[in-house]
Amino acid sequence: MKNGSTLQLEIEKASTSKIDSVDFDNLVFGNIFTDHMMVCDYKNGEWRNPKVMPYGPLQLEPSARVFHYGQAVFEGMKAFKDDNGEVWLFRPQENFERLNKSSKRLAIPEFPTEVFFEGLEALLNLDREWIKQGFGNSLYIRPFVIATEAGVSASPAKEYKFLIICSPAKSYYSGEVRVVFAEKFSRAANGGVGFAKAAGNYGAQFYPTNLAKEEGFQQIIWTDANTHEYLEEAGTMNIFFRVGDKLLTAPTNDRILDGVTRKSVITLAEENDITVEVRRVSVKEIVDAAKKGDLKEIFGTGTAATINPVKGFGHDGEKFELEDQEDSYAQYFKTKLMEIQYNIAEDKFGWRY
Ligand code: COI
Repeated sequence: MKNGSTLQLEIEKASTSKIDSVDFDNLVFGNIFTDHMMVCDYKNGEWRNPKVMPYGPLQLEPSARVFHYGQAVFEGMKAFKDDNGEVWLFRPQENFERLNKSSKRLAIPEFPTEVFFEGLEALLNLDREWIKQGFGNSLYIRPFVIATEAGVSASPAKEYKFLIICSPAKSYYSGEVRVVFAEKFSRAANGGVGFAKAAGNYGAQFYPTNLAKEEGFQQIIWTDANTHEYLEEAGTMNIFFRVGDKLLTAPTNDRILDGVTRKSVITLAEENDITVEVRRVSVKEIVDAAKKGDLKEIFGTGTAATINPVKGFGHDGEKFELEDQEDSYAQYFKTKLMEIQYNIAEDKFGWRY
């Protein structure tokens, strides 16, 4: 950025680092944050004063719009370190574009590309020691935007804060994942904000997910709000079903998140002659396939979860268990993706940054 511009990036280094107090072998997802964060404010109709600075609390008015109307969007990205110590992001342009798509839906001003990438690179340079080498280690990057303007009138704010915080990560789920198919609750409806990474999309899932947990399930697969007959998306992941040798997944629409890992898996599958049917997937066909022994795998895809096998599911009071597959697609895609992410395999799709 040009000197003197309100968009010139300022950098303030933390005077000490917390890194020596972190047990990198026993990380719980999203609990520990690195030494720095990026912030940028929106005021008087423009984004201004981007800064990479020590990670720390924010001061906000209790009446800030975000607390009252949930005007907030976020993203999830990851950085990986290869064996030579080089740091790679995976398809970050996709996340950046989706952040702005989400913002638009929530009447939040879009964020400038150049400021995003300049700030992110400066942040990762300062915190690069937090990115550990080795398969499974990564730095989870959480960009987000909140409405900071004080006042409880139900109208879009005129002031916002954009931030990026980073958390060293291993796996998202610590154990096996079983899911229940939603019969009553919904995640999103037509014309709503399901496609956006709106904060409220996730908060609204916690109550039904707690009920599912009481029944021994870690997650819910949401069904369409109209009929509850079609399977759409899980709480933190898009979802794939392997019936025989075919993969089935729901098409993205205004209810379903256009996941970056989801679309990468579809590309990898097509490249390897695995048939992927992107179409509505009914509860009935999956239950029938499970009963006939044709349902081989269910797995979720997402940045945080990567590719997470689902061990079993519940529907209408019945529970189904899935057997481990020797030729697991979930494992195959996970390895393929990680080889690209950690700069082990050729990146023929241009996904590494
Ligand atoms: C991600 O995969 O980055 C997500 O946003 C899921 C999140 C709610 C943990």
